[in-house]
Amino acid sequence: MSRHEQPRGDDNVRHRRQRREGAVSGTRKIEAIPLVHKKEERASSTPFAAARRRRQPIRWTPLVFMVLSFASLIVYLFVSAPPPLPERAVEDSGAMLSVAQLIQVCADENAAVRAMYTKEIVGFGKQVGLSFSEQWKQADENSGPLPALFLRETAAHLERSSVPLGLFLGSSNPINKANLFRGIQREAFRRIKETREPEFFYDESTERHTAMFPDVAVAKPCVSCHNEHEDSTKRDWKLGDVMGATTWSYPKESVPLREAMRVVAALRQSYLEAYAQYVRKAQEFENAPAVGERWPRDGYYLPRVDRFAARAAKRSSAQTLNSLISAALE
Ligand code: HEC
Repeated sequence: MSRHEQPRGDDNVRHRRQRREGAVSGTRKIEAIPLVHKKEERASSTPFAAARRRRQPIRWTPLVFMVLSFASLIVYLFVSAPPPLPERAVEDSGAMLSVAQLIQVCADENAAVRAMYTKEIVGFGKQVGLSFSEQWKQADENSGPLPALFLRETAAHLERSSVPLGLFLGSSNPINKANLFRGIQREAFRRIKETREPEFFYDESTERHTAMFPDVAVAKPCVSCHNEHEDSTKRDWKLGDVMGATTWSYPKESVPLREAMRVVAALRQSYLEAYAQYVRKAQEFENAPAVGERWPRDGYYLPRVDRFAARAAKRSSAQTLNSLISAALE
């Protein structure tokens, strides 16, 4: 047993003072610390204590190494680290669509849905006794939206969506005055009637990139209904005439692929909301059609919203995917 562990009398007092002083001044630290450690070792034989024992001797090499690594990390981070990658590169891998490409995809989607609605819902619907009119929204009206009004309803839902895609069906001789083209769009529509080709331009008045696609009298009812309508401003429409233009607009010159997908998704959602609105209205008809799996070509039925969505997607998805792939690979 050492003197440290069994101090006696004056020695004992001196040693206690020395230990206290050592703890403060540091000069006696080396004597004091081993005492404490020895007690700990005796008190405990757990794996933790054993691990602590192994760590006891200060190993200078790893310590120096750690300090140097830390210092060089700081130098790297604050002095020589490259600037962070731009966000866009991470988000979309750089694939961009021009606004013309984006709108072309939307116009193709629109052509597919509008043709389906016109033929399968309105066309066959009329044959089985469903009716379609301008007043379809009125309370006691037992009818659904005409194709032009279905498009307008879609445009209204699109306007409330999170994407800034504009959609409008206009003419120079409209039934509804609200559909009259003005300004630069009126000029562009004049050219479309001659060339029968779409027009792409920047509209200063709306600060939007704009694309107009000819809307042609492809079937007799287009001509007869417009010629006979009491509010019509032109009564000599002929089959094959350019009656108006589907007009799209977007505020940006180009969009990342991901944004283009969001735009197409919002457009599709807007068609569905417009159709769902019609289905809800049809439930209030005096003679409400059954809503389910079947379509008007099968009888007095309307397809459920998800059936309508599935068929619309089937008609347009292949072309939309091809357009997005080729745009992404350019
Ligand atoms: C049963 C009647 C009817 C049929 C069929 C019809 N339309 Fe219309 N169309 C209307 C009405 C009514 C409006 C006005 C809707 C509104 O208030 O915005 C309209 C609007 C339009 C507009 C917007 C300019 C305008 O006149 O207000 C265009 C363009 C148009 N229709 C083209 C066509 C084409 C092309 C077809 C055939 C594929 C067609 N319509 C079939 C009744 C009809």
